[in-house]
Amino acid sequence: MEKQKVHYSELGLVNTKDMFARAMAGKYAIPAYNFNNLEQLQAIITACSETGSPVIVQVSKGARSYANETMLRFMAMGAVKMAREAGSTIPICLHLDHGDSLELCKSCIDSGFSSVMIDGSHLPYEENVALTRQVVEYAHQFDVSVEGELGVLAGIEDEVSAEHSTYTKPEEVEDFVKKTGVDSLAISIGTSHGAYKFKAGQPVPPLRFDILEECEKRIPGFPIVLHGASSVVQEYVTLINMYGGKMEGAVGIPEEQLRRAAASAVCKINIDSDGRLAVTAKVREYFAKDPKEFDPRKYLGEARKELVKLIRHKNETVLGSAGKA
Ligand code: G3H
Ligand code: 13P
Ligand code: ZN
Repeated sequence: MEKQKVHYSELGLVNTKDMFARAMAGKYAIPAYNFNNLEQLQAIITACSETGSPVIVQVSKGARSYANETMLRFMAMGAVKMAREAGSTIPICLHLDHGDSLELCKSCIDSGFSSVMIDGSHLPYEENVALTRQVVEYAHQFDVSVEGELGVLAGIEDEVSAEHSTYTKPEEVEDFVKKTGVDSLAISIGTSHGAYKFKAGQPVPPLRFDILEECEKRIPGFPIVLHGASSVVQEYVTLINMYGGKMEGAVGIPEEQLRRAAASAVCKINIDSDGRLAVTAKVREYFAKDPKEFDPRKYLGEARKELVKLIRHKNETVLGSAGKA
């Protein structure tokens, strides 16, 4: 059966244009939470509706094939309806995280995404420009936003891997934005993906705000994106280790640094690992305390409740997005 094309506006979604303009003017950041399943999406929508925060729900290539692309489209539509039925008017954007090809970006746009990232950060500069430009040309026909990336983050993910970080070169950002026509730019200033961002037991190196400021000077008022921004909540790491897990030395970005970033030209902050930790901690705790339970609604329900708490906390006290919808 041929796949049906759908525009994001039919699903009740919005692109990032207005969200970012407001975040820039109001000196806060829009949260971009990754999800793979129903409970994560429910938690994101519940917490953002309750806090009145605009939100970007994002999926990686791996998450999209895990959830199934058709299922995902209906989940996004369901998420919007769920928020509206709860009386919430928060803007919701569906974003492709770390798109790695023009084909994948096109497929997402055709199936209802309102924003895509094309991550050409591993490519030589001119190739990154050319690929990003192609995605922008396609996406803008449908008013879909495009995020590009310059500089490479350290850390290892399923589909994204980089051994060592390479900071963004501020002297490239203006040329990149001009040549590609992107709507936002992810930069590398010392954050990294995953739960092991820095060496355990050593002081956490501060983010390179000097590089961020240099970038801001060259592209004033242009939305900047921060990846790898989980704090790696220690309460969850402790619970995981207490209940049979093995996550010694997991460490992330201090909240204070994220607050500073959110007040700058950083308009989008990506959070995946903290959500994974919350779910894992609560599921482990549940099984340890009630080994007889086998109803997924019980242990996933506890995990979902914790996720709502985590997201509320992020919106209210770290990103500053609560009440901005
Ligand atoms: O930055 C990558 C995200 O955390 C998604 O990770 O590819 O394992 O879904 P994933
Ligand atoms: P974390 O691994 O720090 O949550 O980063 C997520 C991310 O950048 C998704 O693109
Ligand atoms: Zn990322």
